Amino acid sequence: MTVRIGLVGTGTVGGGCIDILQAHKDDFKRHYGIDVELARVCSLSPAEAEAHGVGHLFTNDFNEVINDPDIDLVVELIGGTTFARTVVLGALAAGKNVVTANKALMATHGEEVMDAAAAAGKEIAFEASVGGGIPIIDPLKHSLIANEITSVMGIVNGTTNYMLTRMADDGMDYAEALAEAQAAGFAEADPSADVDGFDAAAKIAILASIAFNSRVVMDQVHTDGITAISPVDLEAARDMGYVVKLLAIAHRRPEGIDVRVHPTMIPDTHQLATVNGVMNAIYVVGDAVGETMFFGAGAGSGPAASAVMGDVLEVARHIEQGVGPIVGCTCTDNLPILPVEE
Ligand code: HSE
Repeated sequence: MTVRIGLVGTGTVGGGCIDILQAHKDDFKRHYGIDVELARVCSLSPAEAEAHGVGHLFTNDFNEVINDPDIDLVVELIGGTTFARTVVLGALAAGKNVVTANKALMATHGEEVMDAAAAAGKEIAFEASVGGGIPIIDPLKHSLIANEITSVMGIVNGTTNYMLTRMADDGMDYAEALAEAQAAGFAEADPSADVDGFDAAAKIAILASIAFNSRVVMDQVHTDGITAISPVDLEAARDMGYVVKLLAIAHRRPEGIDVRVHPTMIPDTHQLATVNGVMNAIYVVGDAVGETMFFGAGAGSGPAASAVMGDVLEVARHIEQGVGPIVGCTCTDNLPILPVEE
């Protein structure tokens, strides 16, 4: 079967998706019987599309993608919550399945987007919104659903983990470490999303929503970033046997959900202390499975595009097999968010 894709966004992640498709299109056909065809590419930059050899598919009008009757699936990779929301809701209303990497959108308008997908009978997949290339949403939606999940916590922002690692290990100052993360393509367009902790807050809101069958939006997450941390603090922590990491934490308590993001001193013998650079790691604890940990590159073109293209193929397989949309978050427990004691 042929699945025709409309790609909206040709930046770091969008470019990575084109690269994967060009490298593995024949493999997808051979292994899964799915011919993934890139039908249109929309962005503000024709040069980006041309650089990836798809200039002939370029448009700068997303309406030409979401209203193209031949497109089966729209991949939204522009980020933010304004145009992206319009693109995603418009695509669903036009009867397209949607794959997105957009954590801010899902952590802010997730309910609206998932309701729109359900109303349209279409699928919205968003594995790349958390943990870059690490499979984490899929396990929470599938392999672990026989558990009551009690905790989800870890390092979910590659930029700040990269910065903290460079500052601690190499004595690099904050601005230099941030500049390196930006040059490597890990940082958000507005790096305050990373360094103020909002990117991590969006990600833990998404994970907590799925894990606890509840609705958590990013504004409900108590959030402290790393802007006040200097190499001297990291050195002092190290002298005491600790490493500072920006942790995103969500616990299911009897009275509700404890969810927060903040720099945390952890013993240097702890597994999370060894997660350095752009790597992310997420612990999930369930009543039957016990402790599990998911580890991998949390940002960057290849890892994020790996997650996006995995979703594309999975949705394509659902289309092919006539399987209805898989609901990501049932929200049936609807637990309250607990206030955080300062
Ligand atoms: N800016 C994000 C990070 C990108 O550094 O983790 C991946 O979501």
